Amino acid sequence: MFLTLFLIFLLWLAYSYFFGAEYFPTGKRKIKKMLELARVSRKDVVYDLGCGTGSLVIAAARKCKQAIGIEIDPLRYLIAKINVFFSRQKNAKIIWGNFFKKDIGNATVILIFLRGKSTNMLKKKLRKLKKGTRIVSHYWKFSGWKSIKEDKKLTLYFYKIK
Ligand SMILES: C[S@@+](CC[C@H](N)C(=O)[O-])C[C@H]1O[C@@H](n2cnc3c(N)ncnc32)[C@H](O)[C@@H]1O
Repeated sequence: MFLTLFLIFLLWLAYSYFFGAEYFPTGKRKIKKMLELARVSRKDVVYDLGCGTGSLVIAAARKCKQAIGIEIDPLRYLIAKINVFFSRQKNAKIIWGNFFKKDIGNATVILIFLRGKSTNMLKKKLRKLKKGTRIVSHYWKFSGWKSIKEDKKLTLYFYKIK
């Protein structure tokens, strides 16, 4: 019984890793700085690609027009939905699915905290976004892209789509 539960737990951990990144939440201080770096305002539509339990989405919703989180893990998706419900942020929305397959064309700001490989795999999708769309990546840089601003201490990197 214990072994079965342990195996299920390992499979659950591997699930998100396989699709893009395992779960690890961004802390409050970094969330604040990510929103500052992207200069999020009431005009913005903000996406958190791989939103985990939704804390970044809720924090963004307090400052923007609409905040959308996309999460592939069904359990975290549910937790994020519950967290959004209790936050009473009507402009926050959580979508279940793979962000590589979702339409994010209305984004003005993209926030990510993934793995190196998935961060770089996103480049093709991000290049198609509107000129001027701001991107903040936590921890990973995009290879071959020059960041406009960096917070080396907090490992945050700011980019703009040209
Ligand atoms: C490192 S966590 C970051 C969570 C949140 N964005 C934060 O900063 O607190 C990465 C999240 O991305 C999700 N994820 C990984 N690949 C994904 C994919 N292809 N589509 C949607 N979500 C994905 C994982 O399930 C995990 O919850």
